[in-house]
Amino acid sequence: MPFELTIWLSVGAVLLAILLIVAFVRRKHSYFVAANIPGPPPTFLLGNLGTLWQASHYFRQLESWTHQYGKVYGMFEGTAPIYVVSDVDFLEQVFITQFAKFDRRKPLLFLLPGQEKRLHVFDANGPTWRRQRYILNPAFSKAKLTQMLPLINGCVDEFVQTLASYADENVDVDVCPMYFRMTVDTIFRCAFSFDTDVQRNLSNPYLTRYDDLLSVDARKLFFAKLATALPALGGFILQIFMRLFMLLHKLNKTFSFVHFPEMPLLWLLDHIGEHVIRVRTEENEIDRVDLLHIMLDAATDQSIVDEEAHCDEDISTSARTPIVKKLTINEILGNVFIFGAAGTETTANILSYCTYILATDHEVQQKLQDEIDANIDSNVQSPTYEMIDKLEYLDMFIKEVNRMYPVGPIALTRLCMQDTTIGQYTVKKGTVVQVDPYSIHYDVDLWGPVDPYKFYPERHATKRHPLAYVSFGAGPRSCVGIRFAMMEIKMTCVRLLKTFTILKCGKRESNFQIHDRATIKP
Ligand code: HEM
Repeated sequence: MPFELTIWLSVGAVLLAILLIVAFVRRKHSYFVAANIPGPPPTFLLGNLGTLWQASHYFRQLESWTHQYGKVYGMFEGTAPIYVVSDVDFLEQVFITQFAKFDRRKPLLFLLPGQEKRLHVFDANGPTWRRQRYILNPAFSKAKLTQMLPLINGCVDEFVQTLASYADENVDVDVCPMYFRMTVDTIFRCAFSFDTDVQRNLSNPYLTRYDDLLSVDARKLFFAKLATALPALGGFILQIFMRLFMLLHKLNKTFSFVHFPEMPLLWLLDHIGEHVIRVRTEENEIDRVDLLHIMLDAATDQSIVDEEAHCDEDISTSARTPIVKKLTINEILGNVFIFGAAGTETTANILSYCTYILATDHEVQQKLQDEIDANIDSNVQSPTYEMIDKLEYLDMFIKEVNRMYPVGPIALTRLCMQDTTIGQYTVKKGTVVQVDPYSIHYDVDLWGPVDPYKFYPERHATKRHPLAYVSFGAGPRSCVGIRFAMMEIKMTCVRLLKTFTILKCGKRESNFQIHDRATIKP
């Protein structure tokens, strides 16, 4: 073929490829316009990611678009269409009524090669998720929590003692890192089955690795951005990047003289894996009720084949499709890891926000102290589950903190698995529904008549829409650890208020800043 013709053909092929890409992106970006759904105009390729990456807070940006476009609008992450929703009836359909069609979250970017084996309940889907949840739900029951309470109490004891030493010296304290250490300690005792020194030893490697892991807003990492904007290309590069880190991790382990940078995730999975196997070997010697031992009771070395089930089936009865009541050791390791990630900073942040309110609202603090004094004898050092459960104002106080300061909205997504209709909207398979929690939690129609911007625990005495409070999600896939978290938060507040009065100090930010990490942190 003559040289010139080859050049022209190549130029033609490139132009055709460009035209096809442009047409493809345009067609994708016409999704919401065609459905007559408003939303911020997408830019070529990135969609609305440019604005989201620049925004100081992802969820405040969603809220501000809600003000502009309404309770149901469309945005694009790259070419992926996302419904952003604060219409609670729409969300009730997604999270509860039509759960079978929305039984999973937006896929996570950081799935390691080979991680399918270690999938935990947060990432698992379909029948595998259903089986894991079936085993885990009772692990967080009231009966089991009552048995775990001494472990939680031990951690709170240590926290209160440390705080008392600061109070004796009359110095100002930043309680956020202290709460984080206390919640890590609690998860270690209840999910890892070991008592650690994390509240005193700030360089405990598990503590620092979890802190590193959670300090990142994964959406803002370079490879994550690439993978979101260009899923085919970015996803491939992300996999190479992950494999490279896995190789460096292997080299670190094999040769003591090399110290390559490593992902905290890999270090944690490795160490938790060894730990789970060790605990399993010693299992018969230890009579201890905790999440790890409950999961080990269901452990099997066989591989499990999950039968396809209807995801709307009630998990607690499993009437139509029988569930294998087993977890593989890899799944147990995965779940221990996820409890460490999902159950520490979330709880610590809520405790920090609680402390902020206590320090700034003395009327609320006094009401709480009065309720505690009226219901719990001053000689009782470690209250029981029943004593804590009776404190109604405390319950409303913590719910109000969660309403005003939702900490885990990153998890509030659902992926549509089957074309469906919700009210006037047709939602297509593959589309993501993202909750806009601030618009819901500050909606006067849902939370009035008292101004939702006012801290007012009593508003929780009124029955609200089932989707008006989304701090722990909703429906069958809501937070499995809610009871655990609420108990830990309540126990800490009671012990705190029985011992101290919280005062604000000069270093307090006048209007504190929130930070987007894996959770929303004060
Ligand atoms: C204040 C503390 C906490 C908050 C605000 C919180 C919030 C959330 C939210 C919003 C979700 C997503 C729910 C949904 O998609 O509908 C979630 C899921 C989850 N949380 Fe929590 N959480 C907290 C504490 C905990 C604790 C203590 C644990 C474990 C010990 C835990 C373990 C999980 C797990 C495993 C899931 C995934 C459940 C599934 O997919 O089936 N969380 N959490």
